[in-house]
Formats: sequence, C-alpha cells, structure tokens
Amino acid sequence: MSECSVVVEDLWKEYPGGIVAVRGVSFEAGRGFTSLMGPNGSGKTTTLSMVAGALKPSRGRIVVCGLDVWGREGVRARRLIGFAPQDMPFKEKLSGMENLVWIGMIRGLGYVDAKRQARRALELVGLEAHGNRRVVTYSGGMRRRLTIAACVMHEPEVLLLDEPGSGLDPRAREEVWGLIESLGRGRIIVYSTHISQEAERHSDRVLIFHSGGIVAGGPPRMLIERYAPMPRIIVYHDPGGAPPMVDGLPGYSRGDGVTYYEVEEASSALPKIIEAFLRAGIQVHKVEVKRPGLEEVYFRVTGARLEA
Ligand SMILES: Nc1ncnc2c1ncn2[C@@H]1O[C@H](COP(=O)(O)OP(=O)(O)O)[C@@H](O)[C@H]1O
Ligand SMILES: [Mg+2]
Repeated sequence: MSECSVVVEDLWKEYPGGIVAVRGVSFEAGRGFTSLMGPNGSGKTTTLSMVAGALKPSRGRIVVCGLDVWGREGVRARRLIGFAPQDMPFKEKLSGMENLVWIGMIRGLGYVDAKRQARRALELVGLEAHGNRRVVTYSGGMRRRLTIAACVMHEPEVLLLDEPGSGLDPRAREEVWGLIESLGRGRIIVYSTHISQEAERHSDRVLIFHSGGIVAGGPPRMLIERYAPMPRIIVYHDPGGAPPMVDGLPGYSRGDGVTYYEVEEASSALPKIIEAFLRAGIQVHKVEVKRPGLEEVYFRVTGARLEA
C-alpha cells in the first residue's frame, strides 16, 4: 500500500456576510490520530467540512492520498474519505439498517451491495441487534455509532469525525471512543474536540485551533513539556494576609483564599508549602496537585480559557 496522508495547504474560508472562519490553516495528517482542539467558534467544523469535500474553501488546497479533493480528482478523493458530522441527518422514521442502505444507494451502490455493506457496518459498530429499530428510538450513543457506521461503510482510508465524544454521557463516550480506537488502527483519523482531556488521551498529534488558525501543534506530551511543564499546587486557605514565599518562590493569589504555586516537583514542594502556611499562622483547608495538561497549554499559548 502506498503511503497515504492528508495535506492541507493555506486553507481559508470566508462565509457570506464576511465572517472569516478559517484563516490560513496548513497541516499534514498521516496514519494515526490527529485532533483539532479548540473552543466553540475556532473553525474546527469549517475546516473538517472543507477537508471532507463538503464545503468549498475560499482558498487553499487539500490533497488526500495524492488526490486533490477540490480538483479534477475530487470524486476519487472523496471516496477515500468518511465524514461523520456532529449531527447526521438520519431519517428518523426509518430503521438504522434502512438509513445505511439509503446512504449506500445515494453513493451509487445497487440495493444488494448497499445492503451487504450496511450489514457489515452495523456489525462493526456493534449495532447488529438494533438494525431494525427506528432511529428515533436510538440513544445518543447509538446514534453516534450509526453515524460512524455510515462513514465506514465504503471502507475509507481517512475518517473525519466532528466532535465524536461531545454530548454523550461518560459511559457512551467511552464506548464510542473504544470503537473509534479500534476502527482507527491503520487509518488516518482527523477529529475535532473542545475537550482537552479527550485530545490528550486520543491523539498522536494535536493541532490547537484559535480564532480560525492553528497556534501550536505536536504530540500532547511534547506540547505540555514545551508550554506548561510545571505542576501546580493549589492551596485553599483562610483569606487575608499575604501567602508565604516557598523556596524563594511567590504564590499567586487573588486574595480570595486560593493560592497557586508552580513547582519543579510536587512531592518535595508539598510539605514545604504546608509548613510555610503553618509558620505564617494561616489555616489551610485543602491542598490539590494539578498536573499540567492541554487545557493549560491552550491557556499559555492563547491567553484564553478553552472550556469557558
Ligand atoms: N454557515 C455559516 N455561516 C456563517 N458563519 C458561520 C457558518 N458556520 C460557522 N460560522 C462561523 O464561523 C466560525 C467558525 O465556526 P465553526 O467552524 O463551526 O467552529 P467550531 O467548529 O470550532 O465551533 C464561527 O464564528 C461561526 O459562527
Ligand atoms: Mg464545531
């Protein structure tokens, strides 16, 4: 198999009305998991829709496995892609199976082939026992799995998933991610998320989206090491009075009884901090150690909070 990748070059999108939703996005995604992580409105859905061949870019180029999605080879390129939008417009009164057959036939399959692919896809996502139920009766998790079934029916190289874990309860989210992890092996997965823990857990590379552009990118560990390497110790204490210095380091406080210390190493700093509060005669209520994550990286890079 020839090596396949998704190459995005200087992609722009201006919506009618003058909103520039995507401004000069470039990246390359190879096999494995690439996440587009950013808050609402940062341009993730717009980017995925353009890569999927569903929304025409204002400018830029998208090449999938050597084929230009918006060029002459567009039809062939789109066959290599499965796109799972956040809300797939299923026909609610039809069963899961009927919806998949219908989608297969829209893509140009005959009934028998569409049915065969639909059955296989339902098995793949663990919905074979529910294929004959109307979609309107499906839970959020089942609906998400049916969406994934619809986008893997034609066995694409590339899966584009828009917020695959959003709007699900924790258990359904776990199930959906288990499924994506197993389907993703050997494929190219590009997905969007506004949840930093999700990006941290399920990415080989993270692209941080902010105001329609990519402001940082790399493997999660590398981003954390570069932008937010220090653990923080958070002390909840009686308000009033200046929090003590520890090892010559000031604590950051807004005077509201919560003080943050950035430390090299939490386990050796913790007893020193507690001792300093005792010596200063300030009552401590609770102490937390916070390992830095992608949420912190986003804040360091953009100055804004991700999940605000
Ligand atoms: N169809 C549209 N028409 C006009 N503006 C849009 C449309 N879709 C999205 N936008 C705007 O484009 C920006 C990026 O949106 P979107 O790509 O949906 O971001 P995200 O998926 O990161 O939340 C936002 O400001 C949004 O309001
Ligand atoms: Mg979106």
